[in-house]
Amino acid sequence: MKENILVIGGTGKTGRRVVEGLTQLGHNVRIGSRSAAPSFEWNDPNTYAAALKGMDRAYIVYYPDLAVPGARKAVQTLVEAALKEGLEKVVLLSGKGEKEAEACEDIVANSGLNYTLVRASWFNQNFSESFLLDPILAGFVALPMPEAKIPFVDADDIADVVTKVLVDDTFNGQTITVTGPRKMTFKEVVAEIAKETQQKIAFQAISIEAYGQAMKTAGLPDDYVWLFTYLFKEVLGNPDNQEVSYDVERVLGRKATDFSAFAKKTAATGIWNQTVSSI
Ligand SMILES: NC(=O)c1ccc[n+]([C@@H]2O[C@H](COP(=O)([O-])OP(=O)(O)OC[C@H]3O[C@@H](n4cnc5c(N)ncnc54)[C@H](OP(=O)(O)O)[C@@H]3O)[C@@H](O)[C@H]2O)c1
Repeated sequence: MKENILVIGGTGKTGRRVVEGLTQLGHNVRIGSRSAAPSFEWNDPNTYAAALKGMDRAYIVYYPDLAVPGARKAVQTLVEAALKEGLEKVVLLSGKGEKEAEACEDIVANSGLNYTLVRASWFNQNFSESFLLDPILAGFVALPMPEAKIPFVDADDIADVVTKVLVDDTFNGQTITVTGPRKMTFKEVVAEIAKETQQKIAFQAISIEAYGQAMKTAGLPDDYVWLFTYLFKEVLGNPDNQEVSYDVERVLGRKATDFSAFAKKTAATGIWNQTVSSI
């Protein structure tokens, strides 16, 4: 059956891919973002109803992260508005091992709507479409938590899982944990990208404090610095939080994408061969 589906963050890393997947399946998709029409702005609850009106289902991507102050209130207000507008089901993108994200998951689970929670590990695409692209382009990546082994997940896999569970009610009430098939350190990741691009990329381990200070020196706002230092400590600081999950295979019937395959495919696009825009 053709559904009307709101994809919040529909121009972002996962949302863009979910829009593609749902459109290919023949569903009617509306993007929820500041640049969409009607415009959806997380910081303005007055924009929620118009974005939700006429929709059957929604993919909820909070920006910038469910850990930031204000996220709980916004998610609560959004699910109340979704219930009022008669939506049947929502899928929340959550973060693996974030206490604040779990509080938002509880809000969705107790909303009275049908729901599926998709809990993601760190994305591969942080190195190609996000804050770790510029250091890669500069040939020098300095990051804290060098000992953390992270089961990086591919945004294509997240999107395939989200696309499926949005329209398949057998996953209602479930929490799907999406990770890649193996755990890697930042140093190993950088080495894989260097191999695929045939470029020299140095990795240097630094303390969280030095990382925060470097962000401040680069002129990044305090709340951004807080969020990133928090995510490094909270999400990567707990080794128990870094286990590999096989939910991608359970939901999709195929294996999760390995980082090497991501690195090969992404290197072929040329994105890692551009001139650095800013560091
Ligand atoms: N990156 C990771 O490793 C990781 C891991 C686990 C979980 N997550 C979660 O993933 C989520 C981010 O998902 P993503 O990476 O797919 O998105 P993203 O690439 O960060 O894209 C952001 C999207 O949100 C929209 N947006 C930005 N500010 C907005 C605002 N104030 N109001 C409404 N829309 C806004 C943007 O469009 P406009 O500019 O047009 O508004 C865009 O569509 C976060 O909640 C994060 O916690 C990330």
